[in-house]
Amino acid sequence: MKLSIIGAGAVGTSCAHWALVKNIAQEIVLFDIVPGLARGKALDLAQSGPLFGYSGKIYGTEDFSLLKESSIVIITAGKPRTPGMSREDLLKVNAEIVKSCAEKIKQFAPDSILIVVSNPIDAMVYVAYKITGFPKERVIGMAGALDTARYRYFIAEALGVSPRDVQALVMGIHGDLMLPLTRLANVAGIPITELLNSEKIKEIVERTKYGGGEIVNLLKTGSAFTTPGLATIEMAEAIFKDEKRILSCSVLLEGEYGIDGVFLGVPVILGRRGVEKILEIRLEKEELEILHRGAEACRNLIQALPDL
Ligand code: NAI
Ligand code: 2OP
Repeated sequence: MKLSIIGAGAVGTSCAHWALVKNIAQEIVLFDIVPGLARGKALDLAQSGPLFGYSGKIYGTEDFSLLKESSIVIITAGKPRTPGMSREDLLKVNAEIVKSCAEKIKQFAPDSILIVVSNPIDAMVYVAYKITGFPKERVIGMAGALDTARYRYFIAEALGVSPRDVQALVMGIHGDLMLPLTRLANVAGIPITELLNSEKIKEIVERTKYGGGEIVNLLKTGSAFTTPGLATIEMAEAIFKDEKRILSCSVLLEGEYGIDGVFLGVPVILGRRGVEKILEIRLEKEELEILHRGAEACRNLIQALPDL
């Protein structure tokens, strides 16, 4: 069980940290193009082994041939946004970076399952899919798991209850047109519409949609990394342990929800084979409209990509 993480920046390091804490792989490898960076980050993490009790291998490298025999490869390489930037502003620069990572994965880890994190995620996962030529089940974008965690947290905060008891689903594009479903959100089975007034629910939905931007504006030098790392590792864990978790992931739609040819966040079953099933749930007319507007935005992003 080898987990490779490309990009030893904020999110990549957070992924490695959570993977170690959750003990999901016997070998965790961090990669970066900046000399020494991945090695330094990995060494720092490895030194927590004696205190924490992790006995697997963790190391960093600039040698991408060490991707070989990876079961899962996570791509976090790429620029994060800073205040005033949208995720879409990262399209061209990150497309080149993700393309170069995908080429290396195709060469050295052709049987791996890919989790893409770099933004704008729904377009970057498309780039990785095109470049690797992997089957769609093995190319998955991370965003819904993060957006859903934010949504659940805001609901819990509003009610003063444990976030563990809040269940919810965020679908669609990882951007302003995302779809936090209010109809399905519940606390220990109780619909939130019974517990919160519509104004408060609307406020929570808006805060969720702009949750990433809120953190960018506070940090000023980059974007969120702790929960993005954990959300990514939650997906990796579901795959390694064949858990059949239902998580919202950006996957290639081929007719589901009436959408074709774009990656978009929908609930899927994650297991050892990657995306084992796309769940096509019934949506209300207005919800479906938002999902389709997100799909259109994704299509526009794909069309604006440089030649791959
Ligand atoms: P960061 O700047 O801290 O780290 C990025 C790392 O990628 C740097 O260390 C850089 O040297 C490395 N890198 C650049 N080109 C590379 C290449 N060709 N090969 C290997 N490594 C390369 O950025 P951070 O905060 O870690 O964010 C990474 C990406 O993840 C950003 O695009 C950000 O927008 C995205 N992100 C996506 C989320 C999601 O929900 N999908 C959540 C959080 C961040
Ligand atoms: C986020 O939502 C940056 O997309 C990232 O935090």
